Amino acid sequence: MKPSLLFVDDEVTLQMSFSKFLTKVGYKVTTASSIAEGQKALANEFFHAILLDLVLPDGNGIDWIIELKENYPAMAIIIITGFGDIPLAVEAMRRGADHFLTKPVNLNDLDVFLQKSIEIHTLRRKDMVEKRMTKSDELFFGESPEMQKIIELATIASSNNSPVLLEGETGTGKGVLAKWIHQHSKCCDYPFVEINCSSLKGDLLASELFGHARGAFTSAVQERQGLIEVADGGTLFLDEIGDMDIAVQAQFLKVLEEKQFRRLGEVKLRRSEFRIICATNQNLQEKIRAGHFRKDLYFRINVLPIHLLPIRERPEDFQALVGFFLRHLGMKEEQVISPSLIKFLGAYSWPGNIRELKNVLERALLLSRGQSLIPEHFPGLEIIIPDYNNTDAAINLKKIEELHIKKTLEKYKGSVEKASVELGISRATLYRKIKQFNIKL
Ligand SMILES: Nc1ncnc2c1ncn2[C@@H]1O[C@H](COP(=O)(O)OP(=O)(O)OP(=O)(O)O)[C@@H](O)[C@H]1O
Ligand SMILES: [Mg+2]
Repeated sequence: MKPSLLFVDDEVTLQMSFSKFLTKVGYKVTTASSIAEGQKALANEFFHAILLDLVLPDGNGIDWIIELKENYPAMAIIIITGFGDIPLAVEAMRRGADHFLTKPVNLNDLDVFLQKSIEIHTLRRKDMVEKRMTKSDELFFGESPEMQKIIELATIASSNNSPVLLEGETGTGKGVLAKWIHQHSKCCDYPFVEINCSSLKGDLLASELFGHARGAFTSAVQERQGLIEVADGGTLFLDEIGDMDIAVQAQFLKVLEEKQFRRLGEVKLRRSEFRIICATNQNLQEKIRAGHFRKDLYFRINVLPIHLLPIRERPEDFQALVGFFLRHLGMKEEQVISPSLIKFLGAYSWPGNIRELKNVLERALLLSRGQSLIPEHFPGLEIIIPDYNNTDAAINLKKIEELHIKKTLEKYKGSVEKASVELGISRATLYRKIKQFNIKL
């Protein structure tokens, strides 16, 4: 079977040249010019890999990556960005992209990248079948006193009905903790209803929450139950509450105070008893000061705040976290995690937190093919700018330079001339660095 690719880019000339070349070298290519078109293609067909431009007419490809990864876990994701968009590409990797290429793309490079990515895809599928995702819901919190405190608070939260506010950076596990609290509470047999306030604006969010009567607005052809009703008896999880429209905030506050609400376009008052959990990765106090978040709503939802720590602020859990995910992701018994590898991984700041750590470890395991893990199994990490608060930053930067030079030399099979052109330094400088880093050619 020919490997199949979905190429999402709105530049028609690029679409044509890529399709022509890729079809010639043996791929089956489908093109799309927007995220919506891409979604349609994915719903109809199976793809080994997606080549995704980030700037698209109906949104930024970056916001689509987490969804792609969740819905098509085996598909390889390759990002194509304009030159100078490296920080964006880095963000894409954090969210789960496998590789990125900068424009103008060298078509031969693209073929090599694709071969590697499709290999990742095949390994991933095999791996998924083997594991059958049996332990996919298992959680790991860590032993640090900070994490123990969080578990204690979550346990308290599950034993009563007070509103919980989960705060923390992206990927720290707010979503999974919300579910955990629900599952451990006495309303666990009732629905856990989740809504992301940042993806729906104004009336759309209100209609999703409150429901609407038939004819309440032009597109309301049928009456509809709102999520507040669906959550009756269970938990309503409002994700990214900081992005809730200010007008909806006022309506929602009223629901919390009165436990009653009206569907849009209806006068009838309805009741719903639900437990509320909110999550945010923004500073709500600042949003209040800026006039974007209501203080009274904040007091209502902030009864039991739980602040989830980023990975870099609980270094004592790092090794155990890596060990947990590697075992969970199917690491073989004979594979060893060396202390130097832990040090290498620990030097990175993990801004995408657990989500990023999981993605990176999964890819590394696939690339290691059962051998012990080494830094080379973590492509992309070496290009990521280290955390400048970290006192080891100077060492990291040197390491990054060394790895980048090694990688470029490998790419050009040891040709100093070609590598120096790509690296933008003179041949003499490159020779000096090869000597300095003791790189074998
Ligand atoms: N304690 C944990 N044990 C195992 N896996 C976890 C844990 N916490 C988070 N994860 C995994 O990390 C990923 C991100 O978690 P989650 O979606 O809950 O983060 P989040 O804080 O809600 O992020 P965002 O702010 O981006 O929505 C998920 O794949 C989840 O399964
Ligand atoms: Mg979340």
